[in-house]
Amino acid sequence: MSFPAHRPRRLRRTELLRDLVRETRLSAAGFVYPMFVCSGGRVRQEVSSMPGVFQQSADQIVEECREVESLGIPGIMLFGLPETKDARGSSSISSTGVVQKAIEAIRKASLKLLIITDVCLCEYTDHGHCGVIENGEVANDPTIEILAEQALSHARAGADIVAPSDMMDGRVGAIRKKLDQNRFENIAILSYAAKYCSGFYGPFREAAQSAPQFGDRRSYQMDPANAKEALKEVAMDLEEGADMVMVKPALPYLDIIRRVRERFDVPVAAYNVSGEYAMVKAAAQKGWVDEKRVVIEILTGIQRSGADTILTYHAKDAAKWLKG
Ligand code: PBG
Repeated sequence: MSFPAHRPRRLRRTELLRDLVRETRLSAAGFVYPMFVCSGGRVRQEVSSMPGVFQQSADQIVEECREVESLGIPGIMLFGLPETKDARGSSSISSTGVVQKAIEAIRKASLKLLIITDVCLCEYTDHGHCGVIENGEVANDPTIEILAEQALSHARAGADIVAPSDMMDGRVGAIRKKLDQNRFENIAILSYAAKYCSGFYGPFREAAQSAPQFGDRRSYQMDPANAKEALKEVAMDLEEGADMVMVKPALPYLDIIRRVRERFDVPVAAYNVSGEYAMVKAAAQKGWVDEKRVVIEILTGIQRSGADTILTYHAKDAAKWLKG
């Protein structure tokens, strides 16, 4: 393949030619839009570090869901901001909890959207950790019992997919068992399988009011330096019954997305997280980057690396831009 017989520029000459041979066709059909639901009515409070993202009550969530659906985005990921927090995250398993009530409200509005729920304790515990504390440590096995109850309560309220993000060992198996015992064998599990201990979750912790009150999450989330361990985590979650697996964050871990894609023949999701979103927003507001261009480039890169599904706060904007 050499010049002058080969001239790669021939196929770059016009937009039609470039379209014809494009390898990655970014589409809103693979997007999931994360949303933050709080209690009350008519609440819509913008998250200061995430322009365009709101903490909102269920009635407002329903309104935004209509827009999300009309843009051709198939699903949302719901996070809850409960009224009360305690050491065991009890409000997370209540049938009248914020997330459970929001799911019911969305269902009542007869939207077709897929409702995916984040299953974790950090938004519901007063100490902000993703599990219960025993002897000063995040205790694994007692935590997965609560997570399984939480997932069940989401399924009862009408969730389509539950997504555990806590990184406790064995939680996928515990959730699968609990769902099956309660005849929710058709509710899928999207596991946050390779979730790294990342500085890029900063803005999310403002949005979800879930920063740990002591220590950090290094004893349960993955070390950013490890790749082989991610493959082990994914293999274990699939073994336990995960239907889809996620890599998170996305941009510093495109190599992990690629390796998971190549090793496992299951749907792979990537989470383009809050800090990745905030950096683009901040630079765009300063006029330092062209927001539309960099967002499409970022999402294309994540899809090209192997993700079938992309969770992103840019979903609505990107869907509009892709429509032209
Ligand atoms: C809950 C959870 C977090 C995110 C998703 N689920 C935060 C964390 O682990 O601290 C981060 C999402 C984002 O940054 O956009 N455990």
